[in-house]
Amino acid sequence: MNGGSFSVAAVLLVHAVLLLLNAHAGLCGCYKRIFSFGDAMIDTGNFVHLAAGKAASSKYKEPPYGMTFFGHPTGRICDGRVLLDFYAEALQLPLIPPFLPEKNSGQFPHGANFAVYGGSARGNGFNHIVTLPWHLGVQTDWFQDMLRRIAPPGDRGAKVRQILAESLIIMGEIGATDYSSWFDAGGAREDAVDFIQDVIIDIGHFIEEMILNQGAKAFLVPNMLPMGCRPSYLSRFGSHNHREYDEHGCLRWFNAFSRNHNQALGRYIEVLRRSYPNVKFIYADYYGAAMEFIKNPGRFGIGDPLVACCGGGGPYHTDAECNSTAKIWGDPAHFASWDGVQLTEKAYNIIAQGVLNRQFANPPFPLRC
Ligand SMILES: *[C@@H]1O[C@H](CO)[C@@H](O)[C@H](O)[C@H]1NC(C)=O
Repeated sequence: MNGGSFSVAAVLLVHAVLLLLNAHAGLCGCYKRIFSFGDAMIDTGNFVHLAAGKAASSKYKEPPYGMTFFGHPTGRICDGRVLLDFYAEALQLPLIPPFLPEKNSGQFPHGANFAVYGGSARGNGFNHIVTLPWHLGVQTDWFQDMLRRIAPPGDRGAKVRQILAESLIIMGEIGATDYSSWFDAGGAREDAVDFIQDVIIDIGHFIEEMILNQGAKAFLVPNMLPMGCRPSYLSRFGSHNHREYDEHGCLRWFNAFSRNHNQALGRYIEVLRRSYPNVKFIYADYYGAAMEFIKNPGRFGIGDPLVACCGGGGPYHTDAECNSTAKIWGDPAHFASWDGVQLTEKAYNIIAQGVLNRQFANPPFPLRC
């Protein structure tokens, strides 16, 4: 080997080492922890813990829940991973544990998930009959309990602020349960828009509390899915008037309602940005990301995006609930809806990638700082 090629090799070696070092630095995610609030969309085990022993929760503890990923039921209302799992992976964090099973002992070094199936923004349903037990007030009380325990007493304020400054707060999706309390009780469609502002104000209230009291610095705030494409609503609000459906087979009025909520949420986030210029607010457009597989399911290997993978007969496979004796209509990777209400891991993966690859997040999701 002559001197010239030796020095070329040496330069290449140095270059490779530098690349490795850079790659290593780049692997370091932007946030050390995720704290998340919401509903069944990202519940990873709180509901089945809360409802232990009660019939309502038992089906979620049985197959086929968890059949695609994990291989066993985990408390996720899904065949596998949910949005939160994909965000944790993207930030190179381990799976974020549900809070309740570890509430007395967990140190939550990578954060905790407070979202619960049935989680809502407000404590009361809009029909004034239903009480919504797992609302944001309850979820944020759990969050305070955890902070009291993991932040050493005496120095509490400073330690809490340090933890929160390194954390991403995922606020939602939340609100769908509030509205469904109205629609499920037979409330008039045209009245539902009157409730949007109440839901948004509640979401904003808890965001501001976390900024002012704990020093939270970064929020991911997802909007609402196109509800008019949900199989359970399609079968419940089915109509003979074809004009009620859009070209994809979704209910126009219900999707318009989702967009109404989403526009109000977007406007509120603008207000928060002006009030707290040092806090990051990432608006995650789940509606837009989900419309990709509604409009063009074949691109993702999905068949009919408007039918449940697990359930019963009927045009939307919703004639029976998804439980251990329900029909599985095929490989969940070919479906967007898991049980007629919640989505499949496949659909969550598509939405999460849409948020992570910047197309459906504003500003872009900060994978690296
Ligand atoms: C599953 O749900 C159906 C109703 O949709 C019910 O008839 C059946 O008994 C349930 N199976 C189990 C194991 O609970």
